[in-house]
Amino acid sequence: MTDDLQMWNVPNRVLFGSGAASETGQYVEQFGAERVLVVTDTGVRAAGVLDPVVTSLDDVGVEYQVFDGVEPDPTDVVVHEAAEAYEAANADLVLGIGGGSSIDTAKAASILATNDGHVLDFEGSGNVPNETPPSVLVPTTAGTGSEVGHWTIVKDAETGIKEEIGDVKLLADLALVDPDLTASAPPRVKAATGMDVVTHAVEAYVSIRRQSQTSTLALDSIEKAGANLRRAVGYRGGDDDALAAMARASTQAGMAFNGAGLGAVHALSHQIGGAFGVPHGLANAVVLPYVMEYNLPQVPEEMVDVAEALGEDVDRSNPATTEGYRAVRAVRRLADDVGIPRTLAETAAERDAIDRLADRALDDGSLTGNPRRTGHDDLAGILDRAFDGRFAYESILGA
Ligand SMILES: [Fe+2]
Repeated sequence: MTDDLQMWNVPNRVLFGSGAASETGQYVEQFGAERVLVVTDTGVRAAGVLDPVVTSLDDVGVEYQVFDGVEPDPTDVVVHEAAEAYEAANADLVLGIGGGSSIDTAKAASILATNDGHVLDFEGSGNVPNETPPSVLVPTTAGTGSEVGHWTIVKDAETGIKEEIGDVKLLADLALVDPDLTASAPPRVKAATGMDVVTHAVEAYVSIRRQSQTSTLALDSIEKAGANLRRAVGYRGGDDDALAAMARASTQAGMAFNGAGLGAVHALSHQIGGAFGVPHGLANAVVLPYVMEYNLPQVPEEMVDVAEALGEDVDRSNPATTEGYRAVRAVRRLADDVGIPRTLAETAAERDAIDRLADRALDDGSLTGNPRRTGHDDLAGILDRAFDGRFAYESILGA
């Protein structure tokens, strides 16, 4: 592929809206499936979030088995367990329902349904030889956007490193996004996953591989998250509109980064999560404003756009290199309002790992989208500031 060619993958079908989960059965039937493996975790199952999905499978007379062994940051071991459950159930369709971990496990297990070998053999881009079974992906957080992407992240249980597997064969046959399913998530989960949405959108918007369609989706996603995340996190049984807006922002941001790629925030958060178990969205939320400050000199106009999308009153007659800091401050204020700590020191991450984390982040595929050239010392410097809580915007704009 030459540099001038651009690729953008999206799923065949995205069904969006309140009540969409009740339509699951009729689509599964359309795909000719008779036995479904539902891939999820015990929390989603216990909260009753599966109910509308499995009821609709019952309604059309499709059999199903539930594998609820998904854990946060799923490992190759969990993926192989899910694949064994698929085989044991003699299933012919994979239905992943849950947060990013459940959806990624479902995608990775679907590789093993039709391809021999170990799941990490398929690491990288385009290394899955055989077509995978039909898949229906149903997010219950807003969210990773994994339901509309062709990537899955699998942690190597031995090394603790998160590996990325990407292939168009992993795109859902149906992404089914029902905002009602996100209602029961605890506030801290809504906050972290919502900031993951913001991170996807910001990284896609400034990525070196951005395209007009990914930028359009990304900017609108930033606007929706800025206007709705606070209310979605504070949801107490009344604000369906905020949940719906966040679900849409999540799916849009997922589509955006699936075409544009990500950047240094994800390259770092994958390592912080892999080494210390810091939840993905939380790690991103803490690191995002520090990386935005690092990238700002390279993409000042884009940062002004981000600030504006977040409701900042920007003055375009000022230099973008100054006004762009409004985006950093607005992201940090949003994070403050939803209870995200300001520093990595307040998470399970440890400062003496900075060198190792920076080393590993250099090898992470996400880094290839970052707009500013980034070496080991740059990444270590970003982590250093993120442990200390040092921001440049405070001296430029005031806190
Ligand atoms: Fe993410």
